[in-house]
Amino acid sequence: MEASNNIRSDKEIKDLVEKWKGVEGNLIMILHTIQDEYGYIPRHVSFELQKLLDIPLARIYEVITFYNYFKLEPPGKHKISLCMGTACYLKGGVDILGELKSILHIEPGQTTKDGLFTIELVRCLGCCGLSPVMMIDGKIYGKLSQEKIPEILTHYIEAES
Ligand code: FES
Repeated sequence: MEASNNIRSDKEIKDLVEKWKGVEGNLIMILHTIQDEYGYIPRHVSFELQKLLDIPLARIYEVITFYNYFKLEPPGKHKISLCMGTACYLKGGVDILGELKSILHIEPGQTTKDGLFTIELVRCLGCCGLSPVMMIDGKIYGKLSQEKIPEILTHYIEAES
């Protein structure tokens, strides 16, 4: 979801470009800042960068699509980071993913139609002893089983109503 209080005005985007002007790799640094603030790279910002940096739009999209980190769609309100590191994988991470997919009807990297959840796969959340593990908005859920997933998601869905 777009963080409206963080949206930069055209003037602020101009200032950001000015800050990185002439610096090697500036496009990536600028895109990082935008991605950090918005959670994705909005189309209007790409158009603005094209003008300000005087580079083809295709070049900007080439960079955005090359790096997994950059996203073209706004993320869901709740980010589910499911660990697929070795410990979590061996303890049933794939089953947890299957359960998430069957409830939310999305694949990793996608956002639910209602904009509530995005699933992303991560390598290790640093708490392998609790495997399998997932994190939602920074909160860790460990020792997961397929049966626990509906209840965890319901908590976030009910908080919306
Ligand atoms: S492998 Fe999943 S938390 Fe480390």
